[in-house]
Amino acid sequence: MKQKTKILHFPKGFLWGAATSAYQVEGGITNNDWETQNRLPKAGLACDHYRRYEEDFKLAKKLNQNAHRLSLEWARIEPQKNEWDEEALHHYYHVLKFLKEQGFKTFVTLHHFTNPVWVADQGGWVNKTTIQDFQDYAGKVAQSLGQYIDYWITVNEPNLYADLGYLTGKFPPFKRSLLKAQRVYKNLLRAHNKVYQMIHAYYPEAQVGFAQNFPWRKASRRYNIFDQLAVRVANWIEYDYPYGRTKNDFIGVNHYSDTHLKVTFNPARGFIELHRHPGEASDRDWPIHAHAIYQVLLKLKTLQKPVYITENGLADAEDKQRGEYLREYLIQIHRAIKAGVDIRGYLHWSLMDNFEWEDGYRWKFGLLEVNFKTQKRKIRKSALYYARICKNNELTLG
Ligand code: FCB
Repeated sequence: MKQKTKILHFPKGFLWGAATSAYQVEGGITNNDWETQNRLPKAGLACDHYRRYEEDFKLAKKLNQNAHRLSLEWARIEPQKNEWDEEALHHYYHVLKFLKEQGFKTFVTLHHFTNPVWVADQGGWVNKTTIQDFQDYAGKVAQSLGQYIDYWITVNEPNLYADLGYLTGKFPPFKRSLLKAQRVYKNLLRAHNKVYQMIHAYYPEAQVGFAQNFPWRKASRRYNIFDQLAVRVANWIEYDYPYGRTKNDFIGVNHYSDTHLKVTFNPARGFIELHRHPGEASDRDWPIHAHAIYQVLLKLKTLQKPVYITENGLADAEDKQRGEYLREYLIQIHRAIKAGVDIRGYLHWSLMDNFEWEDGYRWKFGLLEVNFKTQKRKIRKSALYYARICKNNELTLG
């Protein structure tokens, strides 16, 4: 018997696109705290997107995308405290204007992991002064570029940034202190609130939120009370605490993983083991388990806010899994919409292969393949599959 084709329709006006961040794609950034550290790979020229943005956005448009997420590099705009680089502002003005002229909705992140060196030197996000400085920078952006910004993402993944920079010490400034991590998290959320208010003073209709990293968490041993407690604590840190104390017009969801928590009582292992959901995984060994995004989205329903998937994707150099991944994750996102979650857009990570932080150029997350020697872009097959979904605002199954 021939299987019937099933079509999943997405809500009218649904936004479809991809995401990047400045340091990961632009190239030529010399004065942030990543480019000036000495322990990890640096981005260098990256995708040379600073000069090639028109070509890249034309490709995104050709792929029927109607929204794009990018970030601004604070270190470019304010290389020294209270010194504004008009040329950099001018550049971003043209970037955003170009996107708008091409018909894109713009999602603009103000802080995506990197800081100007002068911010790092004053103690980074541990120091409360940075909150005021961030507000000044955001004010400058609002004045200069606000007219072209549809969705503001104040901070990218405050939870992960506090963890990697200040608890596990894997990212600059490589600190390992629970107290500092907690302070940084709190300061980032405070900064978000301040900037939220400020942007609304300029633009009452602005849409402002932050992008949170939401893995799905599960107790490794289902009936183990300690594992269950660990999940509760993690969820409190990721959902209850931040959303209980911030104002948001939307929830930005970055989703990549499905993690099982196991309490060990072994201090050498940090008291807790993290295991990825077993089964299929990406090049980066992150689980491919679409059900996880459904569970995250359902959990967010109680916040009663519009939700945008601000990042979701996988490392897949051979492009063997990306198409299927998109299909499976979008099925689950559609299912969450049907279950009453107000999801309004999907931004795939990433538009193109780029600099993946501690692992340099190892992982290939792009819908576009980038040859880093020639800077040539090549459209991956999965990007064409995604383009059909974007064009029709629907996913055909069967
Ligand atoms: C997210 C980051 C993004 C990218 C993806 C793979 O946590 O926000 O910059 O590195 O992971």
